[in-house]
This record gives sequence, C-alpha cells and structure tokens, in this order.
Amino acid sequence: MLNAAINSNAATPLAPLHIVGEKPSISIVGLGYVGAVSTACLSSLGHRIVGVDLDETKIAQIGEGKAPIHEANLEKLLSEGVDAQLITTTNDLVDAVADTDVTFVSVGTPTSEDGGCDYRFIESAARSIGEGIALKSDFHVVVMRCSIPPGTTMRVMTPIIEEYSGKKLGDGFGVCFNPEFLREGVAVADFYAPPKTVIGATCEKSADILKSVYSPVDDTPIITSIETAEMVKYVDNVWHAAKVCFANEVGRLCKPLNVDSHDVMDVFVQDTKLNLSPYYLKPGFAYGGSCLPKEVRAVTHIAKGLGVSLPMIENLDVSNKAHIDAATQMAEATQAKTVAVLGLAFKPGTDDLRESPILEVIADLHAKGIKVQIHDPAITTQTPLAGQLAYVQHGSSGLRDVAPALPEMICENIEGAVQNADAILVTQKNKAYATAAKESTLPVIDLVRLFDGETPENCTGIGW
Ligand SMILES: NC(=O)c1ccc[n+]([C@@H]2O[C@H](COP(=O)([O-])OP(=O)(O)OC[C@H]3O[C@@H](n4cnc5c(N)ncnc54)[C@H](O)[C@@H]3O)[C@@H](O)[C@H]2O)c1
Repeated sequence: MLNAAINSNAATPLAPLHIVGEKPSISIVGLGYVGAVSTACLSSLGHRIVGVDLDETKIAQIGEGKAPIHEANLEKLLSEGVDAQLITTTNDLVDAVADTDVTFVSVGTPTSEDGGCDYRFIESAARSIGEGIALKSDFHVVVMRCSIPPGTTMRVMTPIIEEYSGKKLGDGFGVCFNPEFLREGVAVADFYAPPKTVIGATCEKSADILKSVYSPVDDTPIITSIETAEMVKYVDNVWHAAKVCFANEVGRLCKPLNVDSHDVMDVFVQDTKLNLSPYYLKPGFAYGGSCLPKEVRAVTHIAKGLGVSLPMIENLDVSNKAHIDAATQMAEATQAKTVAVLGLAFKPGTDDLRESPILEVIADLHAKGIKVQIHDPAITTQTPLAGQLAYVQHGSSGLRDVAPALPEMICENIEGAVQNADAILVTQKNKAYATAAKESTLPVIDLVRLFDGETPENCTGIGW
C-alpha cells in the first residue's frame, strides 16, 4: 500500500521506503497550500518525504497522489512522488520526525482574537517535533516556513522543542526560517525558478543542509539571521500590497485626466535606476528638497480637485512628518542643552535648503530653547541664505520663527559645531562626519547610517 503510513500511530519510527542517495529525508507538517506544494516539489528533487497533517482527508489524498488544492502541475508531481515511493503521509508527527533528517513546518497561523498571530498550531507541532527529536541520535534540522511575527521561531517554537526533546539548540538539532515566496496558481513553476531563496539559520550546519536541499533550483541562496528572514516575508508582502495600491491610485488619478495609466506605468517601469531599483529603499531620514514634497502636494491637490481619493499618496506627507518627529523626540530625549547638527541641506553636495527636513527638527529644538550649532560642507557663513530664508519664512510657523536665527547657527567647521554640544545629529553621510561621530563621547543620532559595519555604541538611528 503506497500510503502505508496513513493513520499510523505505531510507536516505532516509519521504515524508510526508499533510500535516495545522500539526499536528506524530509517530514512536512501541515499539508495545506504550502505543505502540499513542498511535498510535491521536494519529492521531485529526489527527497523522501513524509507528509503530516491532522486532516484525514488531506492525508489520504496526498498519500494517494491526489492534489488537495487546485494548483497547476501539483497532482502530476504528487502522483509521480507516490508512484516512486518517495511520498508517504501520516498523522503521527513524532514518528515522522524520528524517521527523517529535516522537518518543514507549514501549519496554519490564523489571526487570533486580538488581531495578532495564533500560535496554537505551531506550539502543538513543536511539542511533537521535540518528542520526535528525543527519539533520534542524529542531528535534526527544523525549518519553519509559516508567516509569523519576527522572533516567533526563537521565542515560541524553539524553547518548546528544547523542552520536549531534552536537547539544546545546536546540540542535537538546529533551526532555520525559510520563508515561502511562491505565488498561488503558479507555485510549482515558481518552485523551480524562485524569486529568491532565503535561509535564516541558527548554525552553519543547519544552513548547509538546507542549502543542499535547494541547490538544484537555487545555488545562491541568501543566508541570514532567523529574525531577518522572518521579517523579510512580511516586508515583501507589504511591499507588494503597497505596489498594488500605488499603481491603482495612479490609475484613479489618470482616468479623469484622460491619461492612459498603462502608458504611464509602462514608461515608469522602464526606469530601473531610480524607480524599480534599490534606490530610496533603505531606512534613513525623511524625504525633502525642492521636488518631492512639492510634487506630492501637487498630486494631492489635483486629486482633491477631481474628487478622487488617493489615501496612500495623500498620507505620504503624514508618514514623512512622523519620521521627522521621531528625530526631534530622539534629540530631546538626550536632554541636550546644545545640539550639533551635521548636515543642513536635504542631501550632500547642495546648499538648497528648500524643505530640508532637518530644518523642522531645528525649528522644534529652537522653540524649546535648545541651542543648535550647524555644519554643512556646502554651506558657510558666507553662503547667501536670503533666497532660502524667503522660502523658510513661508513654511511652518516654527520655521518662520527659526529663520532669522539660522545664519548665526552656521559654523565654519565640524569642530565649531560640536564644541560645547551635548548631542550630535547627523543628516549626511561622509567620512568627516563618521569620524566626528566615532571619536565623540556624545550621544549621536545618526539619521543616515554612517557606518556600514558595526555601529559605535554612542550612535543610534531612527530605524536601526
Ligand atoms: N498559502 C500561501 O500562499 C502561503 C504563502 C507563504 C506563506 N504561507 C504561510 O504558510 C503557513 C501555512 O499556510 P497554508 O496556506 O499552507 O495553510 P493551510 O491552512 O492551507 O494549511 C495548514 C495545514 O496545517 C495543518 N495542521 C495544523 N496544525 C497541525 C499539526 N499540529 N500537525 C499537523 N498538521 C497540522 C492543518 O490541518 C492544515 O492542513 C501559514 O503560516 C501561512 O501564513 C502561506
């Protein structure tokens, strides 16, 4: 009987049906969308798979090579896997774990009553996985595949496995987080041509075992920490949602203007230097300058005039303001009486102060009686600021108040700005500012991530 393990509650581990070279055997707990596709695809790579679920219908269907869901090519691969005796199914997770080298966890993570993540399925699976590992003498790798809040793998799943296996992480078992990026409907095709493979791992040994599993479809996986891998899954999906909403807002704006939105976006996507690129995608400081704030306001104004609702575009300004406020709060939290600001323009290499976001921070600090000393490589005491200040005087009331005092805050060099200061705010990335930040014992609010490697202890950013 091909699905011999169905309903098996035997205490002894399942006998291997098929030894496949050196490939690790894999138990997959949770045979829903993710687990069923993993079962089919990993068996097609030659792994022996033991699929585990609580749902007897899914156990029976997959055990007979039938797809429990509609997904192109899934049934074909499942039936081939069952025919080759590579796929068996069971409801006994303890035995399945004891009988395999690796366990993929793809149980459901529904929304809990308070809107958070319901961990009950993960906790219950972790208990059985721990009991299965307790029966083994060989190293076992547990691969979490569920979409879960960052920290869940190490805080929720791993301690339970340690408790029920009686073994310590790294000694008897290792843990990976391997997010699932396959799109429903084309999941099988995506498995063989993944957008990326991300392996968060607690140890090299576990990462290497999982790397070997994926090597036929991706020989350059991204190896990272468990928490980064967990977060990437959420960030990816939020980004996709943001892209959909953005494109749809462009569509709603274009239609009443008689502009073809698809023509617009066809041109938009051809810019792979600034539009579809890593550019503007690293947390840093707020946007500013003479173009972005003005054009966001212009688009919002046009939409309002047309009676078109664009909540995403309209709220960019709100989001940007929240980021500026965060910088102000961090500066205030240092309780500094004098703050050195290194970088005044919205980006390096310009003396254009129009809508430079740090001006709002300076205005708030100034209004609270905090002294501000500014340095900017492109601005000196000789720089004619009159034109700039004309803009500032038409800005927020805080900016109007600070405008006349601004020229006196400008220092000729970094030393002058930092002298007698109690805290440093850095808004531009350059070597001189990095050196000043590193050599200082003052608290440094680093708005640009000055250091690519380890950040000195006195430096902290808004988003890191
Ligand atoms: N569906 C997707 O496209 C997708 C994509 C990426 C990530 N994810 C994530 O992967 C996880 C699984 O998603 P899904 O859509 O496959 O879920 P699903 O609800 O379709 O399947 C989950 C399966 O787990 C089984 N299960 C629950 N507890 C179990 C236990 N203790 N032992 C054995 N089986 C158990 C359930 O019976 C069910 O069959 C979720 O965290 C989800 O957020 C899903």
